[in-house]
Order: sequence, then structure tokens, then C-alpha cells
Amino acid sequence: MVMKKIFAFMALLFLLVACKPEPAPVVQPPVQTIVQPSETIEKIEIKPGSQIFNVDIKDFSYQPAVVKVRVGDTVVWTQVDKISHTVTIVSGPESFDSGLLKEGQAFSYTFTKPGEYGYKCTPHPNMRGKVIVE
Ligand code: CO
Repeated sequence: MVMKKIFAFMALLFLLVACKPEPAPVVQPPVQTIVQPSETIEKIEIKPGSQIFNVDIKDFSYQPAVVKVRVGDTVVWTQVDKISHTVTIVSGPESFDSGLLKEGQAFSYTFTKPGEYGYKCTPHPNMRGKVIVE
């Protein structure tokens, strides 16, 4: 009888140990995905030779008469005289003509080929200017 009681006690002890609740699982925080800023920001391409040069057409002359630019640069001629003038290419790799520019009008040209561009005013051929494109 004693052995049976001991066995029963041992069985109860075993059950108690077996039913011991397991420790709660450790909840891992979710791994954060870090977005690199460089992936979202667009790269701004700065091209060489994308500057703007201004020439005034004033007092029957181009001011400055000679401008030195790089390929890709733009020259803007602004006509401020009462009398109309033109920007008309007479020599150079490319040819263009602004046509008659009235007071307050502007004309622009973006140079894509290197070289020397001589120009004049059609009504006043003594008005001369030059754009040197490097
Ligand atoms: Co003129």
C-alpha cells in the first residue's frame, strides 16, 4: 500500500511538472526597412555650358560687341533702341536671323556648334557683333 501511495504521489508530481506553463514566447519587434534617401531623390544633371549671356542692342551697337561662350550656352539680345535692329549672321558654322526687333523685343539663340559667329544689323550694316563659341 505504501508503494502504491508513493507511486501515486510521484505520478501527481510528474503531472504537475509536465503541466508547468511554458514561458511566453518573446515577441521580436518587426525589422524596420530603412529607405535610403538617395533612392528617392532625382539626380540633377548640371550640364557644362548652359549659361545665358546678355547683349544689349543700344545706341546703334551691340553691347558687348564680342561675347565668348561655350557650346550649349544661350545668348539673349535685348533691343532697347527706338529704331528697329536685327541680329543677322554673316559668317559662322550656323546661320540665323532675328528679323526686325522693335524697342523692348528680345531674341535668343542657343549655340550648339563651336566657332566664330559674325553678325550684323541688316538695316545698319556697320553695326557688327561677334559670338565666339568654344
Ligand atoms: Co540696326
